Amino acid sequence: MTGAAPLPPSGTAAPAVMRGLRFHRHGGPEVLVWDEVPVPVPGPGQVLVRSRGFAVNWADLMERAGVYPGAPDPPYVMGHDLAGDVVALGSGVETPAVGTRVFGLLPQAGTSAEWLVAAADQVYPVPQALTDAEAAGLGSPFLTADAALVTMGRLQAGETVLVHAAAGGFGSAAVQLCKAYGAATVIATAGSPAKVERVAELGADVAVDYTADDFVDVVRRVTGGRGVDLVVESVGGDVLARSFDCVRPAGRLVSVGASSGRSTSRFRLQTLFETGITVGGFTLGLWIQHNPELVAPSAARVLRVLDAGTVRPMVARVFAPEEIAEAHAFLASRQSIGRTIVLFPQP
Ligand SMILES: NC(=O)c1ccc[n+]([C@@H]2O[C@H](COP(=O)([O-])OP(=O)(O)OC[C@H]3O[C@@H](n4cnc5c(N)ncnc54)[C@H](OP(=O)(O)O)[C@@H]3O)[C@@H](O)[C@H]2O)c1
Repeated sequence: MTGAAPLPPSGTAAPAVMRGLRFHRHGGPEVLVWDEVPVPVPGPGQVLVRSRGFAVNWADLMERAGVYPGAPDPPYVMGHDLAGDVVALGSGVETPAVGTRVFGLLPQAGTSAEWLVAAADQVYPVPQALTDAEAAGLGSPFLTADAALVTMGRLQAGETVLVHAAAGGFGSAAVQLCKAYGAATVIATAGSPAKVERVAELGADVAVDYTADDFVDVVRRVTGGRGVDLVVESVGGDVLARSFDCVRPAGRLVSVGASSGRSTSRFRLQTLFETGITVGGFTLGLWIQHNPELVAPSAARVLRVLDAGTVRPMVARVFAPEEIAEAHAFLASRQSIGRTIVLFPQP
């Protein structure tokens, strides 16, 4: 793996317009268009970033299809995860310095563009060893996995954790962070034999193809009937409903998504009192807006393990901007192992 490409010249002047990825009506990948849009200007507390690339997130597929809760009406520049170089500082900003290669996340979208502005305290220096594609895939999965495991899930060293869709962006980050933070046993589910193999390589102690095997049975067998201490769940529907049968009495479950597009109506709230299970929901964008002080410790922990080389984002495939429809279709196909990344040609 190679590290960072050379930085562009400091203080590179931004043009007036750029390419930004938008859609003007909801639909399939065919509605995506690269429009000419104004280059944003950094306000107080913000930095201007020249993009190296961005990740395609499951949330992007849902926004494009018109099913993401609270998404703005089109058109708007899409994208949440970013990697790029700081090229100008808004008033009051001292760090990160111009020329710093950064990664981060924009809760309100806008990273699928050649230039973007971000809050200075929401972009982070990229460790030198990481490629641009790895950096572009870092933001939301790692910050979400940390918050789900540690802040919401109160993970303790020596515990047993169940991670679903563990070959995906969020899941692969969660498996790696579990091990880095001292979980004793990670049970991971994924949707094909190839994914199961990769998840085991990432450090999962037990990896199960949940399209072929009953993950509740596996959890019961592995834990001697007790159940896991913590479940982090991003699939929804039956996987979420059946995950309650995997949590030990007085254990924890954190829900961060519903990739299956399905919800569950099976859960009786009274079960919480009967089992003593703590259930939480986490959405990174809402926390950045409403609980930023709770996100900062996640970033600090993630940076520590990244710098130590203990964890590394997993890249499934890198696409060119012109291949954006293929990139969306690839992620939607459920074939991706790791992150789906788009990189801009660098000067
Ligand atoms: N709350 C937050 O702040 C936050 C932040 C980041 C991500 N998320 C959520 O985490 C989830 C994962 O996001 P991601 O971008 O990392 O995507 P991803 O996990 O790389 O891709 C989604 C995966 O979901 C699994 N899946 C299970 N049932 C499915 C079905 N019926 N149809 C399609 N896929 C199915 C597939 O893996 P298998 O084939 O292995 O089942 C698929 O590869 C999403 O729900 C996303 O919204 C939430």
